[in-house]
Amino acid sequence: MTLDLDFVRAQFPAFAEPSLASQAFFENAGGSYPCRQVVDRLTRFYRERKVQPYWPFEASRVAGEEMDEARRRLAAMLGVATDEVSFGPSTTQNTYVLAQAFRQMLSEGDAIVVTNQDHEANSGPWRRLAESGLEVREWRVAPETGHLDPADLEALLDAKVKLVCFPHCSNVVAEINDVAAIAAKAQAAGAVVCVDGVSYAPHGLPDVGALGADIYLFSTYKTYGPHQGVMVIRRELGMRLPNQGHHFNADALEKRFTPAGPDHAQVAACAGIADYFDALYARHFDPDPDPRRRAAAVHELLRDQEEAVVAPLLAYLSGKNSVRLLGPVEAARRAPTVAIACDRPGEEIAAELAPHGIMAGGGDFYAGRPLEAMGVDMAKGALRLSLVHYTSPGDVDRLIRALDHVL
Ligand SMILES: Cc1ncc(COP(=O)(O)O)c(C=O)c1O
Repeated sequence: MTLDLDFVRAQFPAFAEPSLASQAFFENAGGSYPCRQVVDRLTRFYRERKVQPYWPFEASRVAGEEMDEARRRLAAMLGVATDEVSFGPSTTQNTYVLAQAFRQMLSEGDAIVVTNQDHEANSGPWRRLAESGLEVREWRVAPETGHLDPADLEALLDAKVKLVCFPHCSNVVAEINDVAAIAAKAQAAGAVVCVDGVSYAPHGLPDVGALGADIYLFSTYKTYGPHQGVMVIRRELGMRLPNQGHHFNADALEKRFTPAGPDHAQVAACAGIADYFDALYARHFDPDPDPRRRAAAVHELLRDQEEAVVAPLLAYLSGKNSVRLLGPVEAARRAPTVAIACDRPGEEIAAELAPHGIMAGGGDFYAGRPLEAMGVDMAKGALRLSLVHYTSPGDVDRLIRALDHVL
């Protein structure tokens, strides 16, 4: 099955927007275009339902229903129970809240494992637990490749380790880590796992239930939605961790790790992500009543498309002596988030790409730890060219022509 790219692009207002028409967008890993379904739901919520939700009057009742719908439908696609999904303002904010809960639950002398492949969001908040007497062990990448070797994790695990944090894929290395295998290994040693899926979820919603992660995080503003962070927290762990919300909400799993009142409109609009994935499904496949299977089919569809579209870019960059491609050259082993280290600052090159109609960024992308571990000159950082499924082969041709001018 091949992705119908015209159909896909018709679902994104940005592709009909005159001010963006002459541009090719390659900063998707920073924040994707939102789909029409999300924009429409957000607009409708602000116009028709922007009242306190869950009261008996109609506008309020429907507002609450739409918020519930977002959690219910996303949870079903992610292969978890509805109350195992909660929304916070961002993934970073969510990890700070979770780290506080772990700080209260763990005891001095317990250990946690963090990586130096992660974005700071799944690293710094956990590392700070050292200030409370927890031992922090670092699972390190191979300096040449940025690869996280599960064998190295094995050497870090013992009965003291209670938590292992790692990314599904890094926002600069982009290699896809084998979450199921890593989670199983950590859990067999008595730890729970927290997986940062922010750089992975835009490329197809994962089946979190099948992956076996205890916590799985992603950001909807990079996944065609509004600016929210999704937390999947499996029930057993979520009820064991100390409640971080109001005491009277302690029995509601979906409220235990969201101390602030939620952004009602944005939570409701997240149902538009489910609408969009279902629209993709309906366009390409026969009807199926099971949301988890529909999400799996769309996941495969997006991955196939992205692998084909990013391959020429990876081949081009790996053949260029003046740049260093970070992460694997094989499209199948990575997300199409392509960071390169060059002999001058990534930000400078991004600025030179802009007149060619290429939207890209340069710097450290809050991933200073992996870049530094790989020996990237931090004064220069990296140039990042990130694709998603709506990126066309024509966009990539255009990018390669522009890179020919500036590299
Ligand atoms: C891999 C990864 N994790 C976490 C984050 C942080 O997400 P948020 O901006 O929702 O805090 C980002 C943002 O760039 C990211 O790329």
